[in-house]
Amino acid sequence: MALEDESFIPAHEQEQAGFKATNQKVVAMSTRRTSEASEERQDLAPRYDVIDGGLYYIGTKRDRDTGKLSDTAPQWLCNAVEVLGNGCDHAGRQYRLLQFVRQGNGEQIRLALPCAEIGERDGWATLRNLGLAVSNEAAARNRLAYYLQKEGSTDWYEIVSMTGWQQGAFILPSGEIIGTPARAIHFNGKSRHPSAYRPAGTLQSWRSTVGAKARGNPLVVVGIACALAGPLLSIINAKDGIGLHLYTNTSSGKTTTAEAAASVWGHPERTRHTWSGTPLGLSLAAEGANDMMLVLDEIGAGDARKIGPAIYQMLNGISKLQGARDGGTIASRTWLLTLISTGEVPMSQYLAEGGQRPRGGQEIRLLDIPADQGEFRAFDCIHGCADSEVFANELTAAALANYGTLGPAFVAWLASRREEAKARVADAQRRMLALLPAEAAPTVRRATRKFAVLCAAAEMASDAGLTGWTRAEAEEWVQTAWTRWLTAFGLQDRDDARLIEQVEGLLQTHQHSRFLPQQPHAREPQMANLMGYKREESDGRILFSVLPMAFKTELVAGFDPRRACEVLHKAGMLERPSGRNAWTVNGGKNIGQVYRVRLRNTEDNGIAPAGEQ
Ligand SMILES: Nc1ncnc2c1ncn2[C@@H]1O[C@H](COP(=O)(O)OP(=O)(O)O)[C@@H](O)[C@H]1O
Ligand SMILES: [Mg+2]
Repeated sequence: MALEDESFIPAHEQEQAGFKATNQKVVAMSTRRTSEASEERQDLAPRYDVIDGGLYYIGTKRDRDTGKLSDTAPQWLCNAVEVLGNGCDHAGRQYRLLQFVRQGNGEQIRLALPCAEIGERDGWATLRNLGLAVSNEAAARNRLAYYLQKEGSTDWYEIVSMTGWQQGAFILPSGEIIGTPARAIHFNGKSRHPSAYRPAGTLQSWRSTVGAKARGNPLVVVGIACALAGPLLSIINAKDGIGLHLYTNTSSGKTTTAEAAASVWGHPERTRHTWSGTPLGLSLAAEGANDMMLVLDEIGAGDARKIGPAIYQMLNGISKLQGARDGGTIASRTWLLTLISTGEVPMSQYLAEGGQRPRGGQEIRLLDIPADQGEFRAFDCIHGCADSEVFANELTAAALANYGTLGPAFVAWLASRREEAKARVADAQRRMLALLPAEAAPTVRRATRKFAVLCAAAEMASDAGLTGWTRAEAEEWVQTAWTRWLTAFGLQDRDDARLIEQVEGLLQTHQHSRFLPQQPHAREPQMANLMGYKREESDGRILFSVLPMAFKTELVAGFDPRRACEVLHKAGMLERPSGRNAWTVNGGKNIGQVYRVRLRNTEDNGIAPAGEQ
């Protein structure tokens, strides 16, 4: 843009001259400079100034006769706006941080205006939407665009759009910042329900109501622990989140438990989401609960086919739905969170019903916990209530009246104790893994490590005096919930169990149609889709010699063949040839290499184990 005045000074010189003065707070500059200007003619330079709450541009002109410089009439650009600094977001986009007063109600507005929008229609619309009056004159707006890019403070800010840990401080959805950030941050996010996270009651009132009722109720305590574990995830560098899925038929206290847990962060109902949401909605909800916990109630209300991908998306924290306006994708955002969901049947069953084969990783991303194992279904201790229904209603009422205090208090405690927190999670993991029997599958160990994170969260918050429980109580209750999960899940890897089921199912189905008897001099009958050969052994069991192609493409289809061989061998179903680094053996003349497979020697497949009935 060109300044029309004959006293136009190139931008770089302006910075050294009069324009430098405006690097200080423009709002603080008064009309004083304008009135003093007449005595400082030789220093006169074009400048921006605030006069009566408006931002003006004042140029200079030279008198043709006297050769003296004087100011031009101030040109109104917009209402007063202070430039607080520059900033950059996670995607590398540049912003200018602005502060102004909303016209009409006096609200103080802080806005990170994308530099790409400055001088553009969108940028003016953004400013006007927030109550900044802006001139409609093209020349004035050109001057303002220059001002917004070049003037004001050059302080640096990290522009963040996500709540949770940022630069070592924690941003709550209300916009409140807990702790001291390592670098200046500006929260640019649009929390959809900031008021739902505004606290009700005090931490003390939470402890004496929700906290007190949770005592002796492992499911409620593990729910609260799950809520507390949200801000721990990034501290321990967790790769993905932790989810609990509470299941049983209706009216057992699942939603009540989830509400008690949700009260750690905010209003239990207004912060809650349902499974019926769209993938985009779920993704936004997950992003909004970054470093906190999300509650998804009533999984049955959603489409089971969408649930599997949704779990992955919510708990592995990568949004694939971010599309840029030009159709490309912008840097994907990541989040970490804990999650509680509720439903009538286990998550694994929903996935199966939706035609999805649940995979081990998915199964322990959302840990299936039966919610009817307590003396009173979800509850074990009803604290003298007439019955468990009264207790459930009292717990809900307590959570609806006292919320949003424990989470922020725990975050404040954690903010200065990150290393301690890491060590305590590791310690809890050691302790809980030591409780597992040696034969526990890797998946079970992984899930146990997740429960240990919850355990450590509850222990730390209790030690800090935030929950009203002792550390030992917190540990005991969380571990009881873990035991209930373990009892339902078993010690075996679900993937392994599925593999064994698949192999046994296929062998039984095709035993008579696709396996030839393996006898030395049998005449060769015709058989389409031959899977292999069979032979009855002295103990009555059938030995299957499975052809390599059928083994890989059918028997262990969907599983890593190498790992499948290990698993089948461990289950006593696959022979490992001695002295060879392979799983196949020579099946004899005209047969070639085969896998030697047997059904398990258990009651499951109708063959009674030796010595048992
Ligand atoms: N363990 C329980 N025993 C008896 N009644 C209960 C129990 N849990 C919940 N209820 C009753 O059922 C209602 C619904 O509770 P909720 O927690 O939403 O159950 P769910 O989510 O398991 O269906 C509660 O208002 C309460 O009256
Ligand atoms: Mg419910």
